Amino acid sequence: MDKIIIEGKERLFGEISIGGMKNSALPILFSCLLIEGECIIENVPRVSDIFNTLEILKGLGAYAEFVDKNTVVINSKTATNIIKNQNLVSKMRASSYLMGTLLARFGYVSLNMPGGCNFGVRPIEQHLKGFNTLGAICSENNGKIEIKTRKRLKSQKITLDKISVGATINMVLASVLISGTTIIESCAIEPHIDDLICFLNKCGAKIIRKGRTVYIQGVKRLNGCKYKISPDMIEALTYICFAGICGGDVLLNNIEASHLKYCIEIFKNMGIKIDTYEKSLRANCESDIVGQNVVTAPYPLFPTDLHPQFSALLCYTINGGSVRDDVFPTRFAYVNELSKMGAKIKLIENTAIINKSHLIGAKLDATDLRAGAALVAAALGAEGISEINNVNYIVRGYENLVDKISSLGGKIKLLKGE
Ligand code: UD1
Repeated sequence: MDKIIIEGKERLFGEISIGGMKNSALPILFSCLLIEGECIIENVPRVSDIFNTLEILKGLGAYAEFVDKNTVVINSKTATNIIKNQNLVSKMRASSYLMGTLLARFGYVSLNMPGGCNFGVRPIEQHLKGFNTLGAICSENNGKIEIKTRKRLKSQKITLDKISVGATINMVLASVLISGTTIIESCAIEPHIDDLICFLNKCGAKIIRKGRTVYIQGVKRLNGCKYKISPDMIEALTYICFAGICGGDVLLNNIEASHLKYCIEIFKNMGIKIDTYEKSLRANCESDIVGQNVVTAPYPLFPTDLHPQFSALLCYTINGGSVRDDVFPTRFAYVNELSKMGAKIKLIENTAIINKSHLIGAKLDATDLRAGAALVAAALGAEGISEINNVNYIVRGYENLVDKISSLGGKIKLLKGE
């Protein structure tokens, strides 16, 4: 198994480019199943969740390949609704987008329960409730989900009971080709939702989002197009945590500052200097940083996908702070690992209370993608050498992590396993 070895305490200087947003690229790649003609998708990050998605699409019979470093071409003309790679479906959350797309195109889908990062129950009842409202029949048996329509799906008003990224995306995917107007209320409004809407509109869809309501005027067909995925907000925010922990001066290119606003204010209040430019951001950290208390919530507030990395950052503040996760209340597997390094963290229900800690390198296990990033963050600031196992979780979502950190002066290397 691959390992990441980090010798901590190096300050970070230089510039890197932030990749395309994984959580935009995933639904956009799956949405190509609805599109007649070739789609050219640029700025796609080379991360394992994307490679698995391409495998799933190819298994369905579509053409789906990287044609250069970050450009993917998809043509799903020859796709069927027979999923050959059910094992991959069980491994990734975004495979749930096969429900909306295959239901809309073929009127039938049968798939394994979508998997994903391992931080507690990840139900899909809002997705199924929405498909039901559109006229589909959904059943769940022995870990398999079957969704079918007897007649055509019908445009309806759907009100989600919970703000859910995945359910919002699935409702958009299922409705874009239904004649009439579908209204989806209480939607998630993460930048990846807008990225998907923007892509589909470029293909000929008629979708408008006003606040948390999405209006979809169904169209008969969608045409292929060329589209560039937005920059990854969580990757950018993770590198700001690295800069805060290590100190130094880091320029992040290819970012969208408007997506980062809420967190940038928090980082500034901590004492990290941040200057934003048109498509880049400079994070400078020369002095002590002070802690904050944050609570995760749907966008535009504090993202749950930054929670573990932010906890690592809090260990390096002069007064500590806390993170309460209201979105995924059991996302705390990283706490055990940070404790092995000497982190002073107490978990009370869904809040991690973190005191200033003196972290020392240790042998660590990544338990999920963002927890893995938190261990990298903690190890970059720690005294001595850390060894991080289960790197497969980290490569799900961070493109060239080791090279990027090395180029900033961090002492990090990837040890390839047998
Ligand atoms: C997506 C992201 C993930 C991120 C999360 C929240 C992808 C591939 N994954 O996951 O990185 O952490 O958004 O920003 O984009 N819920 C229900 N019932 C449902 C659906 C969700 O109760 O049917 C709950 C969840 O348990 C959670 C909350 O709603 O408490 C938000 O989940 P959701 O936004 O759906 O997350 P995902 O789409 O799975």
